Amino acid sequence: MSNRLIEGIHLVKEYDGSRVVDNIDFWVKSKEFLTILGPSGCGKTTTLRMIGGFETPTSGDILLSGKSIVSLPPYERPINTVFQRYALFPHMSIYDNIAFGLHIKKMPKSEIDKRVSKMLSLVNLEGFEKRRVNSLSGGQQQRIAIARALVNEPQILLLDEPLGALDLKLRKEMQLELKYMQQDLGITFIYVTHDQEEALTMSDKIIIMNKGKIQQVGSPTDIYNEPENAFVADFIGESNIVSGIFKEDKVVEFAGTIFPCIDTGFARDEAIDVVVRPEDIEITADVRAQLHGVVDSTVFKGVHYEMIVIENEREWLIQSTIPHEEGKQVGLYIAPDLIHIMKKEA
Ligand SMILES: Nc1ncnc2c1ncn2[C@@H]1O[C@H](COP(=O)(O)OP(=O)(O)OP(=O)(O)O)[C@@H](O)[C@H]1O
Ligand SMILES: [Mg+2]
Repeated sequence: MSNRLIEGIHLVKEYDGSRVVDNIDFWVKSKEFLTILGPSGCGKTTTLRMIGGFETPTSGDILLSGKSIVSLPPYERPINTVFQRYALFPHMSIYDNIAFGLHIKKMPKSEIDKRVSKMLSLVNLEGFEKRRVNSLSGGQQQRIAIARALVNEPQILLLDEPLGALDLKLRKEMQLELKYMQQDLGITFIYVTHDQEEALTMSDKIIIMNKGKIQQVGSPTDIYNEPENAFVADFIGESNIVSGIFKEDKVVEFAGTIFPCIDTGFARDEAIDVVVRPEDIEITADVRAQLHGVVDSTVFKGVHYEMIVIENEREWLIQSTIPHEEGKQVGLYIAPDLIHIMKKEA
């Protein structure tokens, strides 16, 4: 038996002939935290709405435990959704908003009371039962929307940028809380965000999309350490990306210099992209220096210094705990395993 709980197969969505989701395949295991990450307009919400049953795919299929669910309406899927724009019932109290799904299931009042107050404490809004929706801040409303979805204990919860309206500090707290809730309640999460840090912090598995297509699927560390193309590398973190030539196995040329690396399997003299993370370039005065440049700027960023070094008109972004003064001549060294070689984007 396959351990795929939800599976998308050759999923396509077109609006007026233009493809916004372009033949994607993905799957998520039970109790997994899957994040769909990508820039605005890349098709994240559309993908989520197809899984939830609010949009019908133009072609392709969605399987739940191996059975197609595309013809099922949203309420017949064991799935709840927290929408990108919170959709609370404005004329109801907070209590009635959260209890809505439980009332429909005809749960006894005492049990509903218990669950509502448990959910309110989970989202840090104890005692808010009698408040009106429009007396709450955007962030509080969003937390109520999360509580309202979780209280039904769905097998799968879809969340569309649920923390987008919150300020940074609250967002960080809620990220951790959501992750705890997900593990605690054993719910499968499919989470949409355009915030790469949020995705890296929370997910078991990340799908990176651009222009309706999947660019890469992997664990946060896979995606961070081994981006498959320049789009992913650029999107997932600040990176130095330069064109290079793959000379032979474990040898690459860029910035007019030959570097040892650990990559194999590209063609001889193939044009490739080289990605180097800012924290992976060492500023050194010793003989190991492979490139030479001048420090153009140094800015303190709290944990480290961020420096721009100009080498032959190329800018290298470098992060280090040791600052170097502007105008100083420096050498740069990149260890072989910190040079990432990627196919040029088609
Ligand atoms: N009902 C619709 N009719 C026509 N075009 C649509 C419709 N819904 C979405 N689109 C288009 O499909 C593309 C993908 O939209 P989608 O909402 O899935 O993006 P997204 O990745 O969620 O973006 P964001 O991060 O801004 O929320 C966009 O170009 C959007 O304008
Ligand atoms: Mg969206």
